[in-house]
Amino acid sequence: MRINIGYYTSTGNTLWLASKAKEMMEQQGHAVKLYEIINDRSAFEQDECDLTGFFYPVWGSNPPDPMVKFRENMPEGNEKKYFLSVIAVRCTEIPVFSGKK
Ligand SMILES: Cc1cc2nc3c(=O)[nH]c(=O)nc-3n(C[C@H](O)[C@H](O)[C@H](O)COP(=O)(O)O)c2cc1C
Repeated sequence: MRINIGYYTSTGNTLWLASKAKEMMEQQGHAVKLYEIINDRSAFEQDECDLTGFFYPVWGSNPPDPMVKFRENMPEGNEKKYFLSVIAVRCTEIPVFSGKK
């Protein structure tokens, strides 16, 4: 499966986790690419894949501002599957992604 992961990190923790996830997925035979959501945004959006993932840290119990901004302008996924991975304890971020399929 081709899996593209978009991530945001400010101090590197999320990138470390996303890289580990990439390694583990590749060990299972998947082709995985990582894209930073600000600098690599257009490549991330244009690159076809079977599954899209997002990794981001929590800021004030919510997704970080760059992730919220990304979500506001995110193209429709045409029912494509995606997954989220969030670094934190509290979880109020899912509603930010609702409404897009
Ligand atoms: C502005 C800001 C707000 C944060 N708010 C929370 C929070 O509400 N809950 C929490 O568990 N961690 C919070 N954190 C901690 C980060 O989620 C945590 O340090 C994370 O590992 C940072 O990931 P990164 O290195 O990929 O940026 C906050 C960090 C920052 C910079």
